[in-house]
Amino acid sequence: MKTTGRYLFAHLYMSVLHFGGGFCQDEYFSDNALQLPESYKIGWMEAIDDAKFISDITIPGTHDTMALYGGPAAECQVWDLWDQLRAGIRYLDLRVVALENKLYVVHGIVNQHKSFFAVLNMIKGFLSEFRNETVLLRVKPELFGKNNVEKQVSKMINDDETVWVKSDMPTMGKVRGKVVFIQKSSFRLGVPLLETDNQGDYKVSLIADKEKKIGKHLRQASEQCGGNSVILSYSSGTGIGKPLTMHLTPKKLAVKINPWLAQYLGQFSIIHTKACLGVVAMDFPGIDLIQRLIKINH
Ligand SMILES: *[C@@H]1O[C@H](CO)[C@@H](O)[C@H](O)[C@H]1NC(C)=O
Repeated sequence: MKTTGRYLFAHLYMSVLHFGGGFCQDEYFSDNALQLPESYKIGWMEAIDDAKFISDITIPGTHDTMALYGGPAAECQVWDLWDQLRAGIRYLDLRVVALENKLYVVHGIVNQHKSFFAVLNMIKGFLSEFRNETVLLRVKPELFGKNNVEKQVSKMINDDETVWVKSDMPTMGKVRGKVVFIQKSSFRLGVPLLETDNQGDYKVSLIADKEKKIGKHLRQASEQCGGNSVILSYSSGTGIGKPLTMHLTPKKLAVKINPWLAQYLGQFSIIHTKACLGVVAMDFPGIDLIQRLIKINH
């Protein structure tokens, strides 16, 4: 009894330190280097049932995953791909161009390309370490040679057992340790995608309007989860391109939207148990926002 009491006391004391101190603020937005607490559960998909369909899981993702450079108008992320995966991001949004016989992942508007092959290998490296995870990969062909992208990816992953390119929706158990390709319009490998955004929804002039839109999209997502398509919603956006909101960069929007989204998700998970929101693609997420999404699954 004595040990239990002492343990309980220590536990309470730690809780007060953690929640009452105020110096340990939740991180919903982040533009700092990734620092994971020691207890951080990187392999969160281990807890997902084998029988669950991929389209029925709430999955944190990034919008324009590799947009780390190019100035305030172009930058959407601060963590590199590896750190995003460690933080729990499981949906990646890559912009790919075919140049001569090679594929490159483009980083926003800057001429600083990585080969698609190298990026795919990095994701596979992560999955060989965290074998219960799966990574959804959206490939968006950009600029010229759009048709070539699919052809070349096809060739590259020919017979590769660690990627899923079928259009049937797999269950979690079928794709642990694998990359699941997502298809849409000009890229037709993998499972279909359904976006809740309408064209132009990424342009934001008023934060309050954006919040309303995200709420609407997430409600729609929760109704359509679990079907033949992966449902995707965006919390990202930008005021760039509209004269009166030029100051509203993707980062400045994320500073405001990410804490709002965390609060929305907190309430959502109280009201709806066993819900699903599909993929939510974000800019500059912090680890506590990512955790809020993961928690919806429990
Ligand atoms: C995968 O999950 C199983 C079952 O929970 C666990 O025993 C195993 O350690 C996990 N593997 C990795 C690489 O995390």
